[in-house]
Amino acid sequence: MKITVVGAGNVGATAAQRIVDKSLANEVVLIDIVEGLPQGKGLDMYESAPIEKTDTRVIGTNSYADTANSDIVVITAGIARKPGMTREQLQETNAGIVKTVTEQVVAKSPQSILIIVSNPLDVMTYVAYKISGFEKHRVVGMAGILDTARYRTFIAMELGVSVEDIQALVLGGHGDSMVPLVRYTTIAGVPLSEFADKPTIDKLVQRARDGGIEIVNYLKTGSAYYAPSAAAVQMVEAIVKDKKRILPCAAYLQGEYGIKDTFVGVPVKLGRKGIEKIIEVSLTPEEKAALTKSADEVKANIAKLKL
Ligand code: LAC
Repeated sequence: MKITVVGAGNVGATAAQRIVDKSLANEVVLIDIVEGLPQGKGLDMYESAPIEKTDTRVIGTNSYADTANSDIVVITAGIARKPGMTREQLQETNAGIVKTVTEQVVAKSPQSILIIVSNPLDVMTYVAYKISGFEKHRVVGMAGILDTARYRTFIAMELGVSVEDIQALVLGGHGDSMVPLVRYTTIAGVPLSEFADKPTIDKLVQRARDGGIEIVNYLKTGSAYYAPSAAAVQMVEAIVKDKKRILPCAAYLQGEYGIKDTFVGVPVKLGRKGIEKIIEVSLTPEEKAALTKSADEVKANIAKLKL
């Protein structure tokens, strides 16, 4: 198993480190355009291997030749938000970056599975899909797991219960219109509504929606990376170990949920082949309308792309 991580910034480097710590690959390639950055971080990471007891080799490079024949490529390249910015304001710059990166990745690793992490997430996943020419099951975006993890964390904080016992699902685009499904949120199998009243639940949902900007406002010079990298690596692990996990991910829809020709967050089965199935859960008319609205926003942004 060979895994490439594109982008040696905070998200990329932390994702690479988590892959190494979990021994998910024989070889991890960390690539970036900045000279010395991936080499330095990569070697530093490799030097943690004896302590972490992993034989995963780490290569830091500026050359795509070193990424050849990767099984999985995690794309984190692009600029991050600053306070006051929406994810959509990153679109023009990051679309150019993701396009160039995808072209180079695909030339060296035509059989790979692409996991996209760059923002605005759903649109960048579309860019990678279009440019790669890969089948739709080999291009998947990371956002739902992150949004769901934030929502689960806030519930755990509010109720003082283990995060492990909280099951939840956040659908839709990775943006203000994301759709946390309260009806499908349970604590040890018991609906959240048994534990909290509506105003409390509404507050938790809103905090999950604003989860990204909350971190940006603290950090000021960039956006979150511990939870985003953990989310991306959960997808890597599901693929490497062929776990058939059911996880919310950005997937290309062709009629599922009444949505066509766009990426948006839905539950998928993730295994060695990538997206092995799109899971259609039943939605109330309100939930369906919220998901459609979110998908329409992604589509409107895709329409602005100049690829
Ligand atoms: C976030 C940004 C990175 O949600 O999209 O943290």
